[in-house]
Amino acid sequence: MNRFDDLLSHAAATKDRQIRELFENDNRAAEFSAEFGEFLFDYSKTSIDETARDLLVALAERCGVAEKRAAMFSGAKINETENRAVLHTAWRNMAAEVSVDGRDVMPEVRATLGRMQTFAEEVRAGRFTGQGGAITDVVNIGIGGSDLGPAMATLALSSFADGPRCHFVSNVDGAHIHDTLKGLNPETTLVIVASKTFTTIETMTNAETARKWMAAKVANPAAQFAAISSAVDKTAAFGIDPSRVFGFEDWVGGRYSVWSPIGLSLMLAVGPGYFAEFHAGAAAMDRHFREAPFAENLPVLLALVGIWHNQVLGHATRAVLPYEQRLARLPAYLQQLEMESNGKRVSMDGADLPYNSGPVVWGEPGTNGQHAFYQLIHQGTRVIPCEFLVAATGREPDLEHQHLLLVANCLAQSEALLRGRSLAEATEILRKKGLTGAELERQARHRVFPGNRPSTTLLFNKLTPFTLGGIIALYEHRVFVEGVILGINSFDQWGVELGKELALALAPVLDGRSDGAGKDGSTRALAARIRALRG
Ligand code: F6P
Repeated sequence: MNRFDDLLSHAAATKDRQIRELFENDNRAAEFSAEFGEFLFDYSKTSIDETARDLLVALAERCGVAEKRAAMFSGAKINETENRAVLHTAWRNMAAEVSVDGRDVMPEVRATLGRMQTFAEEVRAGRFTGQGGAITDVVNIGIGGSDLGPAMATLALSSFADGPRCHFVSNVDGAHIHDTLKGLNPETTLVIVASKTFTTIETMTNAETARKWMAAKVANPAAQFAAISSAVDKTAAFGIDPSRVFGFEDWVGGRYSVWSPIGLSLMLAVGPGYFAEFHAGAAAMDRHFREAPFAENLPVLLALVGIWHNQVLGHATRAVLPYEQRLARLPAYLQQLEMESNGKRVSMDGADLPYNSGPVVWGEPGTNGQHAFYQLIHQGTRVIPCEFLVAATGREPDLEHQHLLLVANCLAQSEALLRGRSLAEATEILRKKGLTGAELERQARHRVFPGNRPSTTLLFNKLTPFTLGGIIALYEHRVFVEGVILGINSFDQWGVELGKELALALAPVLDGRSDGAGKDGSTRALAARIRALRG
């Protein structure tokens, strides 16, 4: 017995029905889609029927989504394993009234945002300079949430960028920082060290490398560093002047932090005005999430479709397929957002989950993916629910003919997944090409598409800062709703700790200071081979 039993029974009872049969209802596209602002979320190309939707909505109600949502926005400590509130939404709504432990936190949020805006304007106007003139390049050094959000959003909004060029370094692999700094002038580069904790080994190692690189050319490298961190003592120890340190509190999780000072590189690229629109788009989605009935609520519906595909139908992965080149980093961003949040094996009270946790999330922009992995999506033996994102209008007025082709491809893919191509259809096509007999039969089977493969489409007009804010907030709340339904804590990430600890312990084994006693045979043998290879 588990919370999905009624849905599992309904899925079993309807398992032989094809999705395209549901379209005998001429009004299905309208009945199984929801709108908010410029967004249309179409989930009609899934096997969800009216009964399934009713059961899913009832599940959300039964699991206390409304109560947990209210608790989150009220500043209650719903991140129970870290004893923290979850209030990243406060950073995108300056009019919000938010208290944590009885203290109004908004004056500090507004003051920090104001300082960020002033700093960004100074840099963009060339009043804050490097030791060789106006800042031409910004290097954001951070990892996980301190990298993926601003990197994804800066690329997404590159058509709005008129500030310094922004670069992102995350990997501890020296190749990343080496290749990034190679073409830059230290005298006109600003380095932002973005780390909530200011202890993350990758970030601190790269920050030291950047400081040395700058010190070789400028007299006062620290003067061209800014920091984004909650750990003011540590930023001071690194030598960064407090006027260029932008803090935020522990109630903003790393993967939810693009709205906070972690978004400084984006603000430098597009300017405070567009950054405010990015906030406004997210705040509008917050309001929709808080107010719309579940059956019309976009984040809730995305979550329920996700639950239907993963926990009910057993599809282990979900492909996110933006038909928008500038959203190329969205799948990577969502991998952290969704998998670090909902990749948990115990419920809030510590009991083993009796069902699967969140799905594997992956993807690439269309149309590129079509020429790579879509083969498996169409004809492989596993069903992969697909989430298409597409803008009706492109951002290049001269290239609208290309945009139409892009949109046509997006719609063609979801149509192909739905309808497939039968053996009879495939046979007929080949017969017309002159094939006959056994060869016709054999070849035709390779050209069959089973169809009946689910997908959803999120349609919007144009990729703007406001729209992007809405998309990201939509996904954040979707992850939240899925987490509530699964009964897990979406806001901790204990699963990343063990590897970090072991990596620290392995460094002395690799450089020969320790013989690795106590480690398993494979790890010891690999370390020995690496030592030998390195001489
Ligand atoms: O890898 C775990 C994690 O804590 C992420 O949740 C976070 O986004 C990332 O590391 C970076 O952390 P920090 O901002 O403290 O350097």
